[in-house]
Amino acid sequence: MDVKSAIETRRAYRALESVPITDEIIEELARSAQLSPSCFNKQPWNFIFVRSPEMLEQIHPALRRGNKWVEAASLIIVVYTKKDLDCMMPGRDYYLFDTGMSTAFLILRATELGLVAHPIAGFDPKKVKKVLGISDEMTVITLVNVGKHSTTNIELLNEQQLKIEEQRPQRKPIEEFIRII
Ligand SMILES: Cc1cc2nc3c(=O)[nH]c(=O)nc-3n(C[C@H](O)[C@H](O)[C@H](O)COP(=O)(O)O)c2cc1C
Repeated sequence: MDVKSAIETRRAYRALESVPITDEIIEELARSAQLSPSCFNKQPWNFIFVRSPEMLEQIHPALRRGNKWVEAASLIIVVYTKKDLDCMMPGRDYYLFDTGMSTAFLILRATELGLVAHPIAGFDPKKVKKVLGISDEMTVITLVNVGKHSTTNIELLNEQQLKIEEQRPQRKPIEEFIRII
């Protein structure tokens, strides 16, 4: 799969079925994140790959309503960072930007491996930090939920989420967010 196809294929699907999460898969995802660019090569990102069923179960109570579908994920990647791990310039802190780029690389590689990798903001970071022993000073910016796309395992989805499975949510027209001069 080339990069264009990975970008076109990636979707934030919510209907997931379980998939074995091998060490090789984790290494591939981590390697893709590792090669992402960052300001002064600071590499501010941190990831915890949660695949043990016991630990996954401990994270589930941190999910916001509407994210029950995450309970079918085979892997939850907890992404965290903090401001002083990256460049800090007047009015421009780069830690979330660089961590986001690295996460995007990881998501695209997961797509290429035939997996769904769906980032969410709908969770309680305090609860996640407590379960995983992540220090208070860190920002847990997203959980990336990984599984295999299913067309049948839909019990955890609400009606609206079911509809979205069928068709990618609409994007703004390109003219709205670019200027060519
Ligand atoms: C930072 C971020 C937070 C998100 N939070 C949630 C969430 O809490 N629950 C959810 O179901 N989807 C969440 N999404 C997925 C988006 O809703 C989805 O990417 C968007 O609707 C576009 O759909 P597509 O990714 O399938 O193209 C999130 C995505 C991002 C990047």
